[in-house]
Amino acid sequence: MAATVMDGKALAACVRAEVAVQVEALGAPVGLATVLVGGDPASAIYVRRKHEACQEVGIEAFDHHLPAETSEADLLALVARLNADSRVNGILVQLPLPDHIDEGRVLRAVAPLKDVDGFHPQSAGQLYLGEPTFVPATPSGVLELLAAYDVPIAGAHAVVVGRSAIVGKPAAHLLLQANATVTICHSRTRDLAAITRQADILVAAVGRPAVITTDMVKPGATVIDVGINRTETGIVGDVDPGVAAVAGLLTPVPGGVGPMTIALLLRNTVRAWNYQAGALAFP
Ligand code: GUN
Repeated sequence: MAATVMDGKALAACVRAEVAVQVEALGAPVGLATVLVGGDPASAIYVRRKHEACQEVGIEAFDHHLPAETSEADLLALVARLNADSRVNGILVQLPLPDHIDEGRVLRAVAPLKDVDGFHPQSAGQLYLGEPTFVPATPSGVLELLAAYDVPIAGAHAVVVGRSAIVGKPAAHLLLQANATVTICHSRTRDLAAITRQADILVAAVGRPAVITTDMVKPGATVIDVGINRTETGIVGDVDPGVAAVAGLLTPVPGGVGPMTIALLLRNTVRAWNYQAGALAFP
């Protein structure tokens, strides 16, 4: 039987609707600043979508698009200004940054109270310790999808393929917190297929098309495809479409995790507002 397709687009619309109600109820402006350095077309599209989503839910978006040759010092100065700007509740520095800029230094410069991406070491450490503040939006979206489709996590074997700081590692921690038995696989993993075939929940976050093929999936497993790969034939995920014949549940690309990422960024921005207003205790 073909896998049930997990509709991230519909779920993301529900999250955005909830966020819109929350923003309205605050009765005060909520602001998100985005910082894009350079002209990477994919990054520009992502940032534009984030702005459109902000507009839909009533969050004010502050757009900072800097030339590719911007110095690290100038970028750090902008982040410092945004940290001090009370209209800005959340700061998002779109990655990747140009090679001459130290990404880690920039991410560490974002005030933890405004770290809506959850990329600051303080946020990452809190996630690791199980006292999350800002959880990165993409892995959060993965967990929301699993919850919406009633996928049992406690006791399940979750296999995460990919160990990036943005997706793989935080996804593994969130699954662990939800009491899954978690295995993280990466480019040096031996006999990847033997491990992925054990997965009740398989999260593919590699960034390469068709890394996960039909023979690598246990019949009935839940397969979450985080990949967004631009190919000559359009956007594809990390999971071969043939997997739909064996999986129980499967996220599509596009329309799966992608829309959830943006919706949860908006939710994090409202959370940031609440922290800054003292309405929520910042751990
Ligand atoms: N680049 C790819 N994904 C992301 C994301 O979730 N946030 C930021 N800031 N940059 C990204």
